[in-house]
Amino acid sequence: MIIKVENLTKRFDSITAVDDISFEVEEGTIFGFLGPNGAGKTTTINILCTLLSPTSGRAFVAGHDCMKEPADVRKAIGIVFQDTTLDKDLTAYENLVFHTYLYNVPKDEMRGRVYDALRFVDLYERKDDLVKKFSGGMKRRLEVARGLIHRPRVLFLDEPTLGLDPQSRANLWEFITKLPEKHYVTVFMTTHYMEEAEVCDKIAIIDRGKIIAMGTPDELKRTVGGDVVYIKTTDNVNTKEEIERLLGLAVSEKEDELYLTCNMGDTCIPEMMRTIGEKVLSVRLQRPTLNDVFLKLTGKAIREEEAPPEKGIKEYVRAYRRRKEK
Ligand SMILES: Nc1ncnc2c1ncn2[C@@H]1O[C@H](COP(=O)(O)OP(=O)(O)OP(=O)(O)O)[C@@H](O)[C@H]1O
Ligand SMILES: [Mg+2]
Repeated sequence: MIIKVENLTKRFDSITAVDDISFEVEEGTIFGFLGPNGAGKTTTINILCTLLSPTSGRAFVAGHDCMKEPADVRKAIGIVFQDTTLDKDLTAYENLVFHTYLYNVPKDEMRGRVYDALRFVDLYERKDDLVKKFSGGMKRRLEVARGLIHRPRVLFLDEPTLGLDPQSRANLWEFITKLPEKHYVTVFMTTHYMEEAEVCDKIAIIDRGKIIAMGTPDELKRTVGGDVVYIKTTDNVNTKEEIERLLGLAVSEKEDELYLTCNMGDTCIPEMMRTIGEKVLSVRLQRPTLNDVFLKLTGKAIREEEAPPEKGIKEYVRAYRRRKEK
């Protein structure tokens, strides 16, 4: 296990930001830390990256104790912070070279490593442009490249796609999902976009400092109660009985559709089709989402606590105008 966390707790005065969490991350996988604002994601990352000491508990990264051997841990990790930390007045190339100095990358390897990293995130052509001319998505990609230059064994990504438009998010995702294979790196990432968490090998859902569920995306979704299969037929009354007899599952009817909940929709559909196939007009399968999992566990949607972004932006713009008018 490349990351091991045991009963980790972090208190800030009266707030318990991280509350007795334990988990392990297997080498070469993508591990997702999923939770709403203030759940304790960044606090956990900061402890694992040796930037913050815990109130109690233990954490190990790449075999080193985060509290007792911080220098060894730092050598083994790369990090992309929630807020960007690039130097806007340097070029992409200069930002990465600066990083090679910090990590004592051998001089004769420096240029090659910087170029490789830039090529990996598709920014090689833009290497001599100032970072202040980059879009949000390009900056994020450059930060991922920077995080890889010293060849870390674990890369921490804190909300890597926050604030990016859907296309830039998808684009960045392409690079993130290739990391374990292309750079032999384990990825530990936080997000509150549920659809992004789908690509993780394993997910921990954290809420108010506690891990409330852990598993593969499929395992977590199975806890919601399975897939829902909707079927339209030429003869709902008889088909309903036939399916119930065949699968031993309760079938319900809503409007002109039959529907049933089953654990494995993809194997239960063919089984059904073999018997009632000729009466079937259409079939659709609805899988539970990670949002359903979160909703079931906490009784709220993951982003419910936030104002919708459009409203926030409008208010910001209005306040800005008012200030200017004065
Ligand atoms: N330095 C600090 N001093 C006091 N309280 C803190 C500090 N850092 C974090 N907290 C509190 O700890 C809790 C967890 O914060 P944290 O930043 O870890 O959440 P998060 O899951 O990363 O949230 P987000 O999705 O908004 O980034 C919050 O209630 C926050 O206010
Ligand atoms: Mg955070």
